[in-house]
Amino acid sequence: MQMIKTNYENKIILGDTLTILKTLPNNFIDMGITSPPYNKGENKKGWLVKNIKYDNAIDKLPEQEYQKQQINVLNELYRVIKQGGSFFYNHKIRWEKGELFHPMDWLRKTNWTIRQEIIWDRKIAANIRGWRFWQTEERIYWLYKPFEKGTKIGKELKSKHALLSSIWSFSPENNNPHPAPFPICLPIRAIYSIMDEEKAIIIDPYCGSGTTLVAAKILGHNYLGIDISKQYIDFSKKRLNNYQNELSITNNEIKKHKVNKTFKERKEKGNFTGKFRTKQNLTKEKNLFEI
Ligand SMILES: C[S@@+](CC[C@H](N)C(=O)[O-])C[C@H]1O[C@@H](n2cnc3c(N)ncnc32)[C@H](O)[C@@H]1O
Repeated sequence: MQMIKTNYENKIILGDTLTILKTLPNNFIDMGITSPPYNKGENKKGWLVKNIKYDNAIDKLPEQEYQKQQINVLNELYRVIKQGGSFFYNHKIRWEKGELFHPMDWLRKTNWTIRQEIIWDRKIAANIRGWRFWQTEERIYWLYKPFEKGTKIGKELKSKHALLSSIWSFSPENNNPHPAPFPICLPIRAIYSIMDEEKAIIIDPYCGSGTTLVAAKILGHNYLGIDISKQYIDFSKKRLNNYQNELSITNNEIKKHKVNKTFKERKEKGNFTGKFRTKQNLTKEKNLFEI
């Protein structure tokens, strides 16, 4: 993909996401990542953790209005992102009076091709009432914008990225004053896997404490952030100036992108059925089924 110089590189814009997105040109961003406000009604954190309250936004809309707003935001992102570009959308399954709301409820109504659902295994979570099993995961949707005359499949990832699997195990961030940050390894993994060595402009339309922007900067990309809180934007700017403090976490994540045998080599050697399906294990499986 070709890098086009715009006026939006390395900026953080203060304002409402949808309003700002509508002012941006078509097809100029390479990829994006975000975790939007989850419409959690501001009272759902249980007794383990304080309520999540944002500095300048109320996270409480009628559910259908919230879903419509997210569809509009996602469709604006589709417009500003280049063909062949990707967007990673972090969200979770929620319940309201026993009714389940799944991110797929509104993602399927957007223009995006849903390329993959990734499980973010957080290992721990605040809600521990017994209405259902302890929900320690969130979801990350890899959304893809196909080329006009292309297929919906898109470019293949390098094996060193794709072998990381669709379950991402990262503990939540606990060293950040923002009420709902994601850990920096999350945007690092997404950006490094998609862009590899290519240079890009990365958007986060609800950038909060700037985690995505710092990840983009560390990996040598340009960024564009939007948030409605001046307080969070000021914090992001300080974080971006001190990005060196987060290099070691980044390097630990990058070290995980390695490969002993590429997908092509696995296929050529005929051992593409998973490492546990050796001849010996297959015999064990057969015996189990015969019991
Ligand atoms: C889940 S947080 C994002 C946290 C971010 N990923 C981080 O690591 O710090 C959602 C952010 O959306 C912002 N926000 C909420 N409503 C907004 C709106 N209408 N327009 C712009 N930003 C908004 C909040 O201020 C908050 O920082």
